[in-house]
Amino acid sequence: MSYAGLISRYRQYLPLPPNATPVTLHEGNTPLIPAPRLSAELDCDVRLKFEGLNPTGSFKDRGMTVAMTTAVANGATAVICASTGNTAASAAAYAARAGLRCFVLIPEGKVAAGKLAGAVAYGAAVIQMQGSFDEALSLVREISERSQVSERRPIALVNSVNPARLEGQKTAAFEIVDDLGRAPDWLCLPVGNAGNITAYWKGFREYGARGHIHAWPRLLGVQAEGAAPLVLGHPVDKPETVATAIRIGRPARGEEALLAAEESQGRIVAVSDNEILAMQKRLASEGVWCEPASAAGAAGLFKEVQAGRVEARGKTVVCVITGHGLKDPDSLMSRFAPPKVIPAELEVLEQLVNSDP
Ligand code: F0G
Repeated sequence: MSYAGLISRYRQYLPLPPNATPVTLHEGNTPLIPAPRLSAELDCDVRLKFEGLNPTGSFKDRGMTVAMTTAVANGATAVICASTGNTAASAAAYAARAGLRCFVLIPEGKVAAGKLAGAVAYGAAVIQMQGSFDEALSLVREISERSQVSERRPIALVNSVNPARLEGQKTAAFEIVDDLGRAPDWLCLPVGNAGNITAYWKGFREYGARGHIHAWPRLLGVQAEGAAPLVLGHPVDKPETVATAIRIGRPARGEEALLAAEESQGRIVAVSDNEILAMQKRLASEGVWCEPASAAGAAGLFKEVQAGRVEARGKTVVCVITGHGLKDPDSLMSRFAPPKVIPAELEVLEQLVNSDP
């Protein structure tokens, strides 16, 4: 039977009303791609869970299929979210699919082109706000709460504070175990609002409770240095990083993320923008191009192994590559000179291709 999305595959693990009809774009079922060069360098088996291959190009689609299915089952006619971009594009696509209105609130000028274009393409009402993601999230929470008690139709909040989002996202942990036949030794991933690390931990624990795994992975959550409230131990009022997806100073699920790191005997660390960009390039050199934030997990692994703080030798390590490089081409192209232009002449081309790289 052909693959029909993660609700169809993992429905028995998802708290959905029995009669709910899935709102799906056949998300999930993403590959676990070996990274042989990075593995050789770190002396371990590194696999990349390439979530950029989801329908809208990020892991958000996992949460959105469950959140939107639940919203429809509950009679919502509109959804709203705050976003650094990927949630916006995903919410827009799934709302379009379900025939719901979709409002997305994004920080002005800080959302990558591929994400904004997605939200527009899928027909969402996109609103830019003068402020940070954290402020936007607090506004949309309020709007959604007010709508529940007003005469008007309820507007469902589809940020990861909505538990249905985590239910969907935990299926990535199931897939990793189903693919490997066991849990990895380490799972490394970027942390922004901290929903995804919370969801993975939930997924691994549930699979453990059902006897599918006998050991849990250690979680390495990675923030950008300029937006690292969980590493600093206090909120960051003006978060800044090239990894705009995780430019978040007050993670809504911060406490849960810290608990997940602690319970799994892992940790939350920070990496610099340069370390993120260097890892983005390194992953692309193995054929997997991701947006900057998505390289943070692997960048954290690299840094911790080099510093001797993570012992990975001989271990199986999964790095979650949360979003596709096509989401944010500008962050890359702005750092490179435009490609060389030549006249349409065979000799010139021949000389070029025969020159040393
Ligand atoms: N990677 C990417 C590509 C993201 O878009 C996000 C979050 C994260 C990692 C971090 O995940 O928030 O669950 O810890 N993006 C949100 C958004 C905030 O609005 O798209 P998290």
